[in-house]
Amino acid sequence: MIEPNSKPPRVQAIQIKAFPLAWAFYRLRELTMSDNPSDHPATRLAHSGRADKSCYGPVNPPVVRASTLLFANTAELKAAAGTRRTYGRHGTPTTQALEDALCALEGADACLLAPSGLAAITTTLLSLLKAGDHLLMTDSCYQPTRDFCDGLLARMGISTSYYDPLLDAGIAALMQANTRVVFAESAGSLTFEMQDLPALAAVAHAQGALLVADCTWATPLGWQVFELGVDVAVHAATKYIVGHSDVLLGAILCRQPLVAQLRQGHHELGVSIGGDDAYLALRGLRTLAARLRVHQHNAAQIAHWLSVQPEVAQVLYPPMPGAAGHALWQRDCQPEYANGLLGLVFAPGISSAQVDRLIDACRLFGIGYSWGGYESLIIPVNPSKLRSVTAARWQGKVMARLHIGLEDSADLLADLQQAFVAMHAV
Ligand SMILES: Cc1ncc(COP(=O)(O)O)c(C=O)c1O
Repeated sequence: MIEPNSKPPRVQAIQIKAFPLAWAFYRLRELTMSDNPSDHPATRLAHSGRADKSCYGPVNPPVVRASTLLFANTAELKAAAGTRRTYGRHGTPTTQALEDALCALEGADACLLAPSGLAAITTTLLSLLKAGDHLLMTDSCYQPTRDFCDGLLARMGISTSYYDPLLDAGIAALMQANTRVVFAESAGSLTFEMQDLPALAAVAHAQGALLVADCTWATPLGWQVFELGVDVAVHAATKYIVGHSDVLLGAILCRQPLVAQLRQGHHELGVSIGGDDAYLALRGLRTLAARLRVHQHNAAQIAHWLSVQPEVAQVLYPPMPGAAGHALWQRDCQPEYANGLLGLVFAPGISSAQVDRLIDACRLFGIGYSWGGYESLIIPVNPSKLRSVTAARWQGKVMARLHIGLEDSADLLADLQQAFVAMHAV
């Protein structure tokens, strides 16, 4: 078994005997380059989760695939009891490296990994709620989150009611005596409502409830989530963290005193991920800051162009001055780490058939449901069918969602320009 934080003895002996000065220098550098919470997030991205130098010290922690872990003798086996180093499901140096990196970025005490973003959400809610509890869920939530609340949670005797994501402190009127969790998703991934997280936290905490937030849109760089009052941050790492559209992954981040409760739920549900996926997520994470800057740069240009097209009534992109939610985005978010996801509400008179024609005419925008990868995407959306308390707000609106990728922005713009022309073709 590879022991984290130790080198194979032979390698250690050679290094220490043959290169004492170099080794001392290396150790000193390792210590001074270790996770320092005062570093800029981009620096932390490059250096966190790299403490394990046990395997000859490669830059990237290697993939460890393991179910069974072997012990030298029974004394070692017994000494490991109750620790995470007993069985592959509890973690490996690869998953540990990803957990360490995400904790360092978010300022969390613990990170629990799950095989998808949805699994991170369901694991969190199952760990925090019990029969008889009430969950107050944003109406803008990711649809499968709603399916889980209305399905499995309801069958378990946990009730859910939905609130308008723009209610902010007004959720106080919807809190019930048994409300244990308020769940936010900011910005909503189809309708882009920015939520006032400190206001939600104040109401939840006043009643002893927790604020859980789906922070996929913000990424670990977008804001200081625990300083905004969130108790548990959940990420679909599938999106910008992985960044290459080839891995499904979720992460749950929390601080004390919630670590034991969430760890226990995660353990009891048997949630774990493989070394290959952890490796790819860690590899994607290293370039998150650089990628977000390009997503943001491209999205800003395209959002501006879209906002002046006569076919477009509204661009839903909180980082854009004048857009809905911009004031909250300015107050709470890191200006250098916006992303490339935006919504479009078409002008009255534009039909959904025309929008389908526009989408089909795009050459560089793929038609697909996800976002956060390096590629541009576009889909038609109809939130009124997915919402309960805010359905009327979106009723009759013809809409689309675009993910602006890392392609050249002039090429993306040219593609949209020709697609807007094609929309009018008979
Ligand atoms: C906001 C949000 N949360 C969670 C998820 C679920 O992530 P996954 O697909 O990894 O289960 C998604 C997926 O699209 C999402 O958009």
